[in-house]
Amino acid sequence: MQGGGPDANIGAVLSSYARERDELIPMLQAVQASFGYISEQAVSEIACRLDISENDVYGVATFYTQFRFTRPGDHIVKVCQGTACHVRGGKRIMNEVCKLLGIRPGETTPDYKFSLERVACFGSCALSPVVVVDGKVYGRMTVEKVRQLLRAIE
Ligand code: FES
Repeated sequence: MQGGGPDANIGAVLSSYARERDELIPMLQAVQASFGYISEQAVSEIACRLDISENDVYGVATFYTQFRFTRPGDHIVKVCQGTACHVRGGKRIMNEVCKLLGIRPGETTPDYKFSLERVACFGSCALSPVVVVDGKVYGRMTVEKVRQLLRAIE
């Protein structure tokens, strides 16, 4: 994934797609795969190529939960708040992560290093409480372990 900034070349990503409405979802997927999110610039570029309004692009894109519209952090930290994790201290883990990163679930740190997400259940309840960082599952977390984990990434 590239960093997404103003220099990111959206045009190059979109150039292999036909300028047809059927290509809207594939275009959105390609942009997200390349930049990690759908920027305003990408929406306007897609709208222009397909000769539809930006509202139309947003209307379709927001229908699908797979698309995100803000630039994610370099590392995605997901803290499970499902029942099994909750009863084993998932809330304490979440509170600690919020404190360490200085953000709430759904937010990204100002330096774009971390994004924090709340998840309902990872399907790894036997390992609860669970934290997933960049797709890797860390089980039986404690406040101390999550501190070490985030420190190791920084
Ligand atoms: S409740 Fe957390 S992994 Fe299932």
